[in-house]
Amino acid sequence: MSTRLPPGPAASSWAQTWRYWKSPAEFVRRCHGEFGDRFTVRVWPFGTIVFLAGHDDVKTLVRSDASVFQAGRSNSFAEMVLGRRSVFVIDDDEHARTRALMMPAFHGKAVRDQVELMREITAANLATWQVGEPVRALPHMQAISLEVISRNVMGLDDPERKERVQTAVLRLLRTGSAFDLLPGYDRFPRLHPARLRRKRPRDRADALLREQIAAHRSDPRLDERTDVLAMLLRASDAEGGWMSDQSICDQLITLLLAGHETTATGLAWCLERLVRHPEVLAKAQQAADEDDHTYLDAVIKEALRARVVVPEVGRKLSREAEFAGYRMPAGTNLWPSIELLHSSTDGFPDPEDFRPDRFLQRGALADWVPFGIGNRRCLGATFAQVESRVVLREMLRRFEFEVTDAPAESAVPRHVTRVPGDFATVTVRRLRSAA
Ligand code: HEM
Repeated sequence: MSTRLPPGPAASSWAQTWRYWKSPAEFVRRCHGEFGDRFTVRVWPFGTIVFLAGHDDVKTLVRSDASVFQAGRSNSFAEMVLGRRSVFVIDDDEHARTRALMMPAFHGKAVRDQVELMREITAANLATWQVGEPVRALPHMQAISLEVISRNVMGLDDPERKERVQTAVLRLLRTGSAFDLLPGYDRFPRLHPARLRRKRPRDRADALLREQIAAHRSDPRLDERTDVLAMLLRASDAEGGWMSDQSICDQLITLLLAGHETTATGLAWCLERLVRHPEVLAKAQQAADEDDHTYLDAVIKEALRARVVVPEVGRKLSREAEFAGYRMPAGTNLWPSIELLHSSTDGFPDPEDFRPDRFLQRGALADWVPFGIGNRRCLGATFAQVESRVVLREMLRRFEFEVTDAPAESAVPRHVTRVPGDFATVTVRRLRSAA
């Protein structure tokens, strides 16, 4: 058993840090070209990161002991926004229990019950688009997905409370600053400057969410409600109120932040790709008219493959452990690269092509992992795919888009996602009769 880590750049960690932050995607691609599917880099403030781009390594990681290869620990940077009990930052039994309680709200039938509301929200937004003028699709997609999360997930029907909650949670998200990068959060979380800066916005968001929880509890129609908050309250009450109100606040903030920008970005990329691929656009339009879910789903999957929303996921070693023939010290980060997996020619022949048909063929595409892997795979994956299908279908039925031979939009980092550099600018050529 080797005690060394996989190979990687010989440059100092300062030089690597500089190159990484200058352009993370380019740095990772270069290292992959030079060192292959498994390489080690040293980047402040993360420390040692072993990138994984090989199918077998990712499979091994999925089967590894989750109490050693910890995702919550790797995601701990998000704790100051999401809260200590967020499903995203916890590990072990607490994670398994919280996830099990939340899961039923995100299963197929529960999500299908949400479709009509998603459609109404989409239609209201699309009604504001102007024909013949360039539209930045990304902010529209964000508005739609924020509304969907607020209504379908948080059950915020009251327009005034909805707006106050949205403002408070988005303010909390935007309270980021250079303080976030200061070390010491793991040792002194309560005294860390980044935490102190967020205390007031977080308290404000909590107070509003507690109001919303209380309003739901006293709703005589709680049993009939289909929103995720109602399902969480029912599930927790059935288990003797196992989840505290504070924990429920943490999950609601997590769902809003994890669910809205990601879905919006995926949809924006989908449009950006479609207007540059007229044949695919024509087929997608026909699929929308005929309500052919299979082809629309394939378009969405291919967009999520070709333009990753989240470039990688993280696991951090809670103790020294063996992996892929290496003995890795405690604290090592393992980052399966979604971006590299999605551009592998083994998994996806001609990966540069935008070809939804690859998702129509039989057989699972094991390297397709836009929603992450294993016991931490995105809780909202079905929700996101159904919402994307509803929004895409509505857009294609309502609008005929101008196709373009403009160069592809660049991918620009934003929070944990990569968004289209021109906000997925498209032009509606005309309204269609199917609208
Ligand atoms: C296209 C849209 C989306 C993408 C690309 C996406 C991607 C991801 C990824 C990569 C992870 C990390 C998985 C891992 O560590 O292996 C994740 C986790 C998560 N996502 Fe999503 N997501 C999307 C939409 C949503 C939506 C709509 C929701 C909820 C409404 C959601 C809720 C969550 C939660 C709660 C987790 C944490 C799961 C856990 O740690 O057990 N996501 N997502």
